[in-house]
Amino acid sequence: MEEEDFSIVDTAAPSTERAAEAALRPRVLDEFVGQETVRSQLSLVLQAAVARGATPDHVLLSGPPGLGKTTLAMIIAAEVGGALRLTSGPAITHAGDLAAVLSSLQEGDVFFIDEIHRLARPAEEMLYLAMEDFRVDVMVGKGPGATSIPLPLPPFTVVGATTRAGLLPAPLRDRFGFTGHLEFYSPGELAQVVTRSARLLGVELTGDAAIELASRSRGTPRIANRLLRRVQDWAQVHGTGILDLAAAQAALTVFEVDDRGLDRLDRSVLELVCTRFGGGPVGLTTLAISVGEEPETVESVAEPFLVREGLLVRTPRGRAATRAAYEHLGLTPPDGTLFDT
Ligand SMILES: Nc1ncnc2c1ncn2[C@@H]1O[C@H](COP(=O)(O)OP(=O)(O)OP(=O)(O)O)[C@@H](O)[C@H]1O
Ligand SMILES: [Mg+2]
Repeated sequence: MEEEDFSIVDTAAPSTERAAEAALRPRVLDEFVGQETVRSQLSLVLQAAVARGATPDHVLLSGPPGLGKTTLAMIIAAEVGGALRLTSGPAITHAGDLAAVLSSLQEGDVFFIDEIHRLARPAEEMLYLAMEDFRVDVMVGKGPGATSIPLPLPPFTVVGATTRAGLLPAPLRDRFGFTGHLEFYSPGELAQVVTRSARLLGVELTGDAAIELASRSRGTPRIANRLLRRVQDWAQVHGTGILDLAAAQAALTVFEVDDRGLDRLDRSVLELVCTRFGGGPVGLTTLAISVGEEPETVESVAEPFLVREGLLVRTPRGRAATRAAYEHLGLTPPDGTLFDT
């Protein structure tokens, strides 16, 4: 199956990594680990639509990178037997680009728009109309003589994915009949993910190694699978080929993933807040510039995990470190108030 992936975090990942990731994607809802709430809600929406012989309502999937939004979009298409059409917000620079895709949709297609919060305004307005009335206005001619001709569209399902649901304008958000918010995975769920992946890769992964990987994967299946492949690398070069606890620990040390799963970006964000900014609060943009990243990356990739771990807090004046952050980094907390939650 041809697959494209427009994830923002992984743009630097080599294409072999992308291919490896695609090979590990669950294909049906039953193979999708965890996310009980979203899974049962979605299953209901899809089954009811199939029973009615109708296309399902538009679906919005939100949540941090690597939790399974693209995977779910593909599963939705597979479950309803529709063709999957993929695009992403930043790929649509003119409303005309969107009109072209919309007017080529077939009945029952699943139209996946990744990073939908980055759609340009005119495209967004065209999308409202298409989602609500199944109609697109095609402009004919130029200048004052231009006229718009309404073109009816066959019923189709939009699946939007966003790491930043808050950035979605309300009118767009309201046109989705179902919104699923993906949560970080528990270590138990991630252990299931890597065990399944190891089976697909044809490698032997011991139970304690699966748990070790799971507890250092920042609640994220993509990271769990990536760490699994690094342990596989390590075991192949230095070990017996079996992915056991010793191999997992050694590999994770090499790749600078600490015992709580913080990677280099997480630690530099935290260290900067603690040291250069005296614990904060510090504004997102200043912080992002200091770590040499885009504010969007810091906000959607590092921050949700650090906040969930109770290492970082968001205050009205910016981001601040907690006592736990100092302790985790082995630093002495400053005297005075810390932003503990
Ligand atoms: N529930 C799950 N069960 C098993 N594997 C999963 C699950 N969710 C995600 N994965 C794995 O994690 C990888 C990343 O998932 P996916 O690409 O769907 O994330 P995403 O939410 O679309 O991320 P992004 O926001 O970066 O686009 C997939 O290749 C898949 O193998
Ligand atoms: Mg994706």
